[in-house]
Amino acid sequence: MKRARLALLISGRGSNMAAILEAAGPDYPAEPVLVLSNRADAAGLGVAAAKGVPTAVVESRAFKGDRAGFEAAMEAELARHGVEIIALAGFMRVLTADFVRRWEGRLINIHPSLLPAFPGLDTHARALASGVRLHGCTVHLVTAGVDEGPILAQAAVPVLPDDTEARLAARVLAAEHQLYPAALSWLAAGRVRLEAGRANIASVESAPDSLLNPLPRAVLLSTT
Ligand code: GAR
Repeated sequence: MKRARLALLISGRGSNMAAILEAAGPDYPAEPVLVLSNRADAAGLGVAAAKGVPTAVVESRAFKGDRAGFEAAMEAELARHGVEIIALAGFMRVLTADFVRRWEGRLINIHPSLLPAFPGLDTHARALASGVRLHGCTVHLVTAGVDEGPILAQAAVPVLPDDTEARLAARVLAAEHQLYPAALSWLAAGRVRLEAGRANIASVESAPDSLLNPLPRAVLLSTT
């Protein structure tokens, strides 16, 4: 199996990155070849290095007001490592339409809400304030509109009466760690087709009583 050369873009903790690195054994259709951070102090860099994955830093702060320059520096790192597919994993910079166009169909993100509800920042606080009973996360292809691209997978979690932002965030994060490695594997394996702006994914299973859709478990098994 030819594995797609994968870059993980991070800005901080990198727990989604770590979940993907954990899943990315020899049978996984993407091979992590680079962890790229826009901050030198991102904790995830150390996690990646400990796993033996090459890391690089392109400090966004050094390119204030020069997004094209920032992205050109990132592109140089991506090219140097022969990257074919990019997963944003808590990467907190908005990418330009030009960058997104260059990587169209090969650029994926996880967002901590059930899109199209709560695009943008502070999703857990906004979910609590709004009174929704279910919250969750979404893996989607990145398009020029922020948090708007075709949805690959979602996981829902309940919002409990005594929830704090931290408790709700932790519940969502656990779902993210299940969902993201699976959804990324479908894209890397070439199983995602776009039809009328929606993503169709070959050979995935759904279950009527599951809050994760499609089912990550079945998908990971079928990639081996
Ligand atoms: C995750 O909850 C991810 O969904 C979110 O940042 C967190 C990163 O955590 N991403 C966004 O908000 C993107 N707009 P991690 O660094 O531990 O993976």
